[in-house]
Amino acid sequence: MFDTHAHLNAIQFEEDLEEVIQRALDEGISHIVVVGFDRPTIKGAIKLADTYDFIYAAVGWHPVDAVDMTTEDLQWIEELASHPKVVALGEMGLDYHWDKSPKDVQKKVFRQQIQLAKKVKLPIIIHNRDATQDVVDILKSEGAEEVGGIMHCYSGSLEVAKQCMEMNFYISFGGPVTFKNAKKPKEVAREIPLDRLLIETDCPYLSPHPLRGKRNEPSYVKYVAEAIAELREMPLENLVKKTSDNARQLFGINR
Ligand code: NI
Repeated sequence: MFDTHAHLNAIQFEEDLEEVIQRALDEGISHIVVVGFDRPTIKGAIKLADTYDFIYAAVGWHPVDAVDMTTEDLQWIEELASHPKVVALGEMGLDYHWDKSPKDVQKKVFRQQIQLAKKVKLPIIIHNRDATQDVVDILKSEGAEEVGGIMHCYSGSLEVAKQCMEMNFYISFGGPVTFKNAKKPKEVAREIPLDRLLIETDCPYLSPHPLRGKRNEPSYVKYVAEAIAELREMPLENLVKKTSDNARQLFGINR
């Protein structure tokens, strides 16, 4: 199984990271992409990717903290893009739930990172909260199609998912797709083509059913895989293989 979005660089894993990683290996996790989104978490993601064979890194700047990103930070991200285990830029995007960063600053920082991704030729990982139309508009106007990427922890409509897939994006599902009341994610996870589907944990957040409310970790991605396999009425094994192949292809990972 390929966990395409994990924050093992979060303080919630400081105390028992070794055990969390061992459990992931024991449960058959073959690859993890650890996502950095500010200075400390970018450093953490790189360190983990340098330490563990099966861990890769994504580096970017979170929209909530857009006001904190300096030109030096953007330059640093550009330098890190040539690190052999950096496989994507992000997470990046728009988040209108929190008001730390004004919308226009978020949009600017989002656009700058898309332009950088096109320059360094890496796919992008998109965070969207309450900002769907603006996210889609910016992806379109910046020509994000050229690099493609992932709509991370997708919770939108099938209609918007189709627009994103047309722009070369994969749709990734995490814990919420396992929740009983998650009508929309379940519908999208069932209907989209298998070759656009990815799984993730977004750990330590968003634990899947039946562990909802607990700290999430990569080994729990199996609950996400099981839920989607059931929705699509297909063998778990096939779902796991296909989503792993999709992720390896997107990230350019050969092993
Ligand atoms: Ni995340």
